[in-house]
Amino acid sequence: MPSVFAEARPVEFIQRPGGQQLSPRDELARGLLQPQPSIAPKFLYDALGSRLFEAITELDEYYPTRTELALLEAHLPALAAAIGAEARVVEPGSGAGVKTRMLLTALERPVGYVPIDISHEQLELNARALREEFPGLEVQPICADYTSRLELPHSTRTAARTVAFFPGSTIGNFEPDEARAFLARLGRLVGDGGMLLLGADANNDRASLERAYDDGLGVTAAFDKNVLAHVNHTHDATFDLDAFTHRAVWDASHHRVEMHLVSMRAQRVRIGATVVGFERGEVIVTEHCYKHPREAMAAMLTAAGWRTLRVDADPRGRMHLWLATRSA
Ligand code: AVI
Repeated sequence: MPSVFAEARPVEFIQRPGGQQLSPRDELARGLLQPQPSIAPKFLYDALGSRLFEAITELDEYYPTRTELALLEAHLPALAAAIGAEARVVEPGSGAGVKTRMLLTALERPVGYVPIDISHEQLELNARALREEFPGLEVQPICADYTSRLELPHSTRTAARTVAFFPGSTIGNFEPDEARAFLARLGRLVGDGGMLLLGADANNDRASLERAYDDGLGVTAAFDKNVLAHVNHTHDATFDLDAFTHRAVWDASHHRVEMHLVSMRAQRVRIGATVVGFERGEVIVTEHCYKHPREAMAAMLTAAGWRTLRVDADPRGRMHLWLATRSA
């Protein structure tokens, strides 16, 4: 049986200066030994972490998902009209698929769909389901890290244009420079005449943000602490989960929520051959969730080579849907 996976062609890998690639264990040890210890957010998303994140999206406190869904519901007819018929959709990080299905249903005769994800299993499941649901659609998954530089697979159908779909305010998990570079890479990926449909969070209200990232049920705390369990299982570490507590802090000067794991006592943790000491109260940063005010996101899009066509916001101005085209 032919593989359902298009051949990914990563041209660029994340490397440390000097050109050598770090193993995940070395990357973890290096992050934990920095003056501000950190664990890269990608380690949050093992199988359980991904399921916990899905649970987060259903919490009352976590407004981004349902607000964005309502925005899509309200504005997709106009957005689809602006995108036009026979588009090819590229989605970095194919999510659970609800928003994808909404977009593909709203578009007029979409010709192709290219999800990009590191999880083979997830891609395969989603691709199979979408081929059944949208028989005219050429589904060409790419199994790759979507932050690497990629080329699109050859398509058997001619698309009127390619549109990159990046909902979920995931752009907020990139550091600002990385976000700009990533948006520019998306522009090169979709090519001339291509478009971008982006969902971004602009909220700057401390109370609602800290609730959204530290909910009453403790789901976000479990999501955050699961990173330690994941690192223990897969990267030979000895974190004691009971010795850390989750905290979410809004940093207004950087416009970001920081997810923290706070050490409850002085302790030592081993990762492979490296031993790291933590003081009581010392923090491991596990994620930055940047919020992009409208003007800031507009400027970032322009700097990344995009021209904004329209912006749709919810009545409280928290979530924004951006439709942009590559500037000529
Ligand atoms: C995936 N990403 C958009 C989420 C966010 O809101 O930054 C990740 C998350 N972390 C804690 N809660 C949700």
